[in-house]
Amino acid sequence: MSAQTELADGGETADSTVTLGDVGFDPVATQDFRLSVEGTSGTGKSNTLAVILEDLADVSIPTLIIERLGALSPVRLEDEDIVVVGAREEEGVDLAVGLEDLDQIGSWILDRGMKILLDVSTYADYEQDGSRVHEAAARAVRSLNDRAHEKYRSGDRTKSLLVVDEVHYLAPKNSAPEPELDEHVKRCRGQLIKVATEGGNKGISVVSGYQRRAFLHNGVIQLCDDYIAHKPGDEDVDRTADALRCSEDELANLGTGEILARGESITDGDLVGPTKVRKRRSPDPREESFELPETPDELSNVLEEIQDDVEAERERRAEREDELERLREENERLREEKAELEEELANVDKLSDAMERLVGSGNGGAGAGAAAEVGEGVQELQGRVDELKQERDRIQDQLDDVQDERDEFAEQNEALQEAVADLEADVQEFRSAFEGAREDVAALVETFEVDVDLAPPAEPETTTDDAAPESPTSSTVESSIMAEFQQDAVDRIVSTIENLNERQRRLLKYIEAHGKTVSSQKEWAQRTFGLQSNPSSSHYEDMSTVIDHGFVRKNKNGSIAPNIREKVEAELGNYDVDDATIEETYEQVLAELASN
Ligand SMILES: Nc1ncnc2c1ncn2[C@@H]1O[C@H](COP(=O)(O)OP(=O)(O)O)[C@@H](O)[C@H]1O
Ligand SMILES: [Mg+2]
Repeated sequence: MSAQTELADGGETADSTVTLGDVGFDPVATQDFRLSVEGTSGTGKSNTLAVILEDLADVSIPTLIIERLGALSPVRLEDEDIVVVGAREEEGVDLAVGLEDLDQIGSWILDRGMKILLDVSTYADYEQDGSRVHEAAARAVRSLNDRAHEKYRSGDRTKSLLVVDEVHYLAPKNSAPEPELDEHVKRCRGQLIKVATEGGNKGISVVSGYQRRAFLHNGVIQLCDDYIAHKPGDEDVDRTADALRCSEDELANLGTGEILARGESITDGDLVGPTKVRKRRSPDPREESFELPETPDELSNVLEEIQDDVEAERERRAEREDELERLREENERLREEKAELEEELANVDKLSDAMERLVGSGNGGAGAGAAAEVGEGVQELQGRVDELKQERDRIQDQLDDVQDERDEFAEQNEALQEAVADLEADVQEFRSAFEGAREDVAALVETFEVDVDLAPPAEPETTTDDAAPESPTSSTVESSIMAEFQQDAVDRIVSTIENLNERQRRLLKYIEAHGKTVSSQKEWAQRTFGLQSNPSSSHYEDMSTVIDHGFVRKNKNGSIAPNIREKVEAELGNYDVDDATIEETYEQVLAELASN
């Protein structure tokens, strides 16, 4: 029995069709499923999301639901597999999970096959700071992203579903009136853009509900092919009409619970509607009060197990903090000891100098015996000075060791994680800005009917099985000769790549797929192998081999840059080729790299 079926009653054969009025689709069977569900407040979005979840109640699809207004949690009355996760034990929360432990959610979902509803509002007053809501969402989505990524890489892709209500609040545009854009909001947004752009590859189907198109960061919906619109706000009508290719009037006349829909996966590309979505079966918290159910028995056992996991992780974290504290104290102690020694050393040094001067300044009235005595005294003192110096150096070494150890520890802590998270958020926004620009260019191309190469930005680990693009050369003879040169260059490079071991090849693939510089060897190894801790010496050996072969470049500041393209350029240097040929050859090498 697989982890996924463990919690489900229906098993894997249950029908995963969702029916919204005249619209029917299957978010489980569809690849790259991204659905946009919009509409201004009170038009029925949450009802629609609830219906989607209810229709999937018997389907054992690992699921993460994120909401902050409590509209979806009653769906749990229709689907007993749904576990409500919140900040603390209270009514309606099945599993209390601290902010830090939300990092485990991805594994609970994808490895245990759970359906988790994260009520982010419960984290609001966690530290008297509104954007804890965003931090909670960011951690959960990140965890799902990361785990899905790991599984995808190990060839164990697991289909899952992410449903986010009020996503405009979690991933706002910079110009949105709220929330204030702080680091947590940016991180949350970055993760949501990431899942909306790369998640499909990794098996995550994404359903995003939002009120205002104008306030939502475009990255969350720009790759959507499927749109469901409830009645939009006045300011959004024109853009929504564009997305659905329908008239503004049709949208403006939609009643509560009515939708218009268009998309490849949901309507075969046709416009369907207006059609009315059925009312949810689970209670609507806007309309009625209802008794919250007890956590079902079968779930209780699983939850207990997870609570143990959470507890264990908390203990490990406490241990790490204790260790850090111990190192801090050790450091302090050594520092003091060193200061004392240094003082003693200075005194002894001075005394020794003074005596030497005394001896050196002639014997004055003193006899030879006295001089000899003083001389011995000086020697003794100097011996002592040397000893002290050695002692001091030894302590300095110790101090350095402790400091190193401490630094390493501290590095593993929040600071690093946050830096990485911020970077990731930046990358996502960058990528989405690029996508936006690409669409603009595409529109221009259509208008002016010119030829422009619209290559997408490199995405991590998207293996390209595609053949290399066709190159426009003047004559067939010329091109066949050129093709031979190219093939030779590819073969030479590939034959050297074949000497790399599996891990070295992964390192190389990572950096090429990543497409740009990473800040250090450490980061390179950590990202390639998904390490939480520091890379081992054998990781460093592997990295050195890849650097030594010139497959990647190590910059003066220690950062690591992809270098295959440069290698290709060097190989083709004699043939005086143009950029397109270099690019094409480079693509061929990458294709070879990807396929072995
Ligand atoms: N399909 C529907 N059929 C009947 N009533 C609906 C339907 N959708 C929404 N409603 C009504 O409208 C109210 C608002 O719906 P809701 O889904 O909470 O809107 P939103 O999430 O867009 O703010 C609900 O409380 C319910 O009374
Ligand atoms: Mg709602």
